[in-house]
Amino acid sequence: MTRVVLPPLPRATTAPRTAPDAASRPTAPARRAGRLTVAPTPREVARSLAGQRWEPLIEFREPRWYRRVAEGPGWEAWLLSWLPGQSTGLHDHGGSAGAFAVLRGAVDEVLPLPSRPDSDDAEAGRTRLARRRYRAGQVRAFGAHHLHDVAAGGELAVTLHVYAPRLVSMTRYALVDGALAVTSREREGQDW
Ligand SMILES: [Fe+2]
Repeated sequence: MTRVVLPPLPRATTAPRTAPDAASRPTAPARRAGRLTVAPTPREVARSLAGQRWEPLIEFREPRWYRRVAEGPGWEAWLLSWLPGQSTGLHDHGGSAGAFAVLRGAVDEVLPLPSRPDSDDAEAGRTRLARRRYRAGQVRAFGAHHLHDVAAGGELAVTLHVYAPRLVSMTRYALVDGALAVTSREREGQDW
């Protein structure tokens, strides 16, 4: 695994933060040498790492391929590849915030959402799924309580995922009769 030291990120140290980055900041601000320093967000780490040359490490395999490729204070980064038809299934990140950058191709993020207020009686109170496509060059950040499914966008794709703090557990879900149901819990060292 490569230990990556990120260069200083060009950002005003006292600038106000806006969601979702504020919610996904990996560590609290700390004072150092009289200056307020702020840890980079997962989005910033993902953007920084996305520019590196990862191609030699990437493999495409069934049923899935992923590899942890970098880590730093309070975060880690994984490369994932996507063959057509592959997907993660609905899962959370065990309390870690994160971001993913699409390096090649496109992926779809599937999000469970509450039914619309104007839903008819048959749909009221039922969770629905919404899908959004992210293409090469885009970065998607998410907070510590985010739940999603990520799926190949129909072509070979590569994504780089950053988690802060490091990913140590995940819970998997299924949509059963319009409601989310836990199907399994996974832990680092046992399941990946
Ligand atoms: Fe995820």
